[in-house]
Amino acid sequence: MVTIDPAARANVTLIDHPLVQHKLTLMRKKEASTSSFRRLLNELAGLMIYEVCRDMPLQDLEIETPLETTTGKVIDGKKLVFASVLRAGNGILDGVLSVVPGARVGHVGLYRDPKTLQAVEYYFKMPSNMEERDVVVVDPMLATGNSAAAAVTRLKACKPKSIKFLCLLTCPEGINTMYKEHPDVRIFTAAIDRGLNDHGYIMPGLGDAGDRIFGTQ
Ligand code: URA
Repeated sequence: MVTIDPAARANVTLIDHPLVQHKLTLMRKKEASTSSFRRLLNELAGLMIYEVCRDMPLQDLEIETPLETTTGKVIDGKKLVFASVLRAGNGILDGVLSVVPGARVGHVGLYRDPKTLQAVEYYFKMPSNMEERDVVVVDPMLATGNSAAAAVTRLKACKPKSIKFLCLLTCPEGINTMYKEHPDVRIFTAAIDRGLNDHGYIMPGLGDAGDRIFGTQ
């Protein structure tokens, strides 16, 4: 069994709110229907993004209430980017956008070349002015961490201000890989499972997230 490097573990925020844990357990059940799975994933994503955004900078804004002028706080800077790792990342988008509706959305598509085992990009589209934006990469499962780390490497070429990684489930292998390649990227997850099986699935996990979101199993 792979153990988590303590420095890598310190780079992970485990979101253990009771609502998050409850919904995650319902999603793990093999009898959860496609529609329940999708709904729960979006509800979870909405709860989790709240924690991911906790350190967003604020600026003062002078406004008029119906009674007087006052100064309130609003989020500073250019709009956040949600970078979805295709295809399962798309299952998280509605949930995060329900809480941060003004965010921009980018997509990263990678596949693993069976001969070289290297990640090959087949799609990459990000909003403009990436240098002025913070990015949250979204992918429900951080398993081996190889494609997630490759997606982050590709995103770094756009020089965003910061990158965070939001997943539902991860495991020691994924956490260690991400930390080794990108120690500057904090991972937000609802659970750290035991590890990977011989087919690269997280155990006990929830199966193939993409298949369960899109009903392709
Ligand atoms: N991707 C999935 O969808 N599930 C896993 O368990 C691992 C990778």
